[in-house]
Amino acid sequence: MRVQAKATFCEPRPTSPIPLIISLSLPSMLLRRALLARPKINPAGVSSRPLPPHCVPLHHRLNPVSTIRTMVTASNTAPAFEPQNIEQEAAHQSNGHAKVNNWSHPGPAAFDFRSDIVTTPTARMLSAIASTTLLDDVMDGGSDPTTNSLEAMIAEMTNKEAALMVCSGTMGNQVAIRTHLTTPPHSVVTDHRSHILEWEAGGVAALCGALVKGVVPANGNYLTLEDVQKACVISDDVHACPTRLISLENTLGGVITPLDECRRISAFARENGIILHLDGARLWEAVAADAGSLKDYSDCFDSISLCFSKGLGAPIGSILVGTKAFRTRARHIRKMIGGGMRQAGVVTAPARVAVEDTFLGGKLKASHVRARQIADMWQGYGGKLTAPTETNMVWFDLAAAGTDAKKFIEDGERAGLRLMGGRLVVHYQIGDEAVQRLDELMQVVLKGKKPNGKVELGADKLAIEAE
Ligand SMILES: Cc1ncc(COP(=O)(O)O)c(C=O)c1O
Repeated sequence: MRVQAKATFCEPRPTSPIPLIISLSLPSMLLRRALLARPKINPAGVSSRPLPPHCVPLHHRLNPVSTIRTMVTASNTAPAFEPQNIEQEAAHQSNGHAKVNNWSHPGPAAFDFRSDIVTTPTARMLSAIASTTLLDDVMDGGSDPTTNSLEAMIAEMTNKEAALMVCSGTMGNQVAIRTHLTTPPHSVVTDHRSHILEWEAGGVAALCGALVKGVVPANGNYLTLEDVQKACVISDDVHACPTRLISLENTLGGVITPLDECRRISAFARENGIILHLDGARLWEAVAADAGSLKDYSDCFDSISLCFSKGLGAPIGSILVGTKAFRTRARHIRKMIGGGMRQAGVVTAPARVAVEDTFLGGKLKASHVRARQIADMWQGYGGKLTAPTETNMVWFDLAAAGTDAKKFIEDGERAGLRLMGGRLVVHYQIGDEAVQRLDELMQVVLKGKKPNGKVELGADKLAIEAE
């Protein structure tokens, strides 16, 4: 079995040889002549076939900026994609390791439960990249229309004054916290399992010189006001390290911090002059699970970091939201740590598609239903869970099942699945076949069934359903 290279992705839209944007004034006529005189760059054969209507992103159809973009790039360097070149190009780019790329189907992600970060960008994202604006996002306060428009869209969706694109979720949290915190002594209160404490290489300590206090939630699932109050230091005592910021994470391990709890913590933070940041890498999931709207949650926080490259499936990127003053300083900090992106449209165009297609398109909810189905199957075979299944994560109790992470991962490989341990992350590219394989695996682990051992794991060995 092998991955099918069904090349269904979209080619760039046809471009006129004459940039219509150039008016007939003398300087522009000279420019036009110069552009027409340039040798045509056509590395892989420019197609003049029109883009199928379904491949033209809605916002491009509606947005005059995209029309200007097409005209400006018309005689420049029209990118070229020819389906027959894909395998050849993929092999070249990967030094012979990959037979195809996966723009038109999930590829190995369809059998990968390790995380939602494995989601594969889609053909429409490729199309958006091919037709993005290519202006600089660092100079002149940021002049790339695609980037500015995504930032405006997310600011609007979260009811915040401003948004700032960043390269990753880690950068989003670190830039936000460094923006808020100025002079030690200061401390940050957060869940003991939170990404900023456990998975960001000690960034808050290194970049802000802050003491980070990890709190164990009394209910075992999410922080409550009472947990936070106990941990916060609100004091002028010279021995103490005052709490200047509380950072929540929602969802954390797929578990939702309810909106009411966020509101209570927010009221407490505001009363005491403490900043409230949210690592909302997966806030989309809480919203998709009807825990509250983006705006409801956003109103509780001074800043939020939201990821495009987890369950939404964009290849790169996160975004920060907050006040205009917050954005101004965050932009400075982002530059300081090397996060200023030049032709950022290459990143922001697919990120917008991720929001439109996956989040607004309702795909997250379907993965929650599948996660519930998986949890029910596991429990149906007598398995136990270590955390509630509220969104896209399922936590198997491996010890109670008489196995451990290493063995489970190996059994998973034999069943043609990628696993990381007891935590299974269900993303929208997980299909029925992966769930069937998981069912087999559950029976091996919980019912002593003999593994059939027929399915091999490997990017070029997995059976992939092409579109
Ligand atoms: C809750 C949470 N926040 C932040 C991040 C960091 O995102 P990135 O990997 O893009 O730096 C992750 C990554 O998985 C995460 O799970």
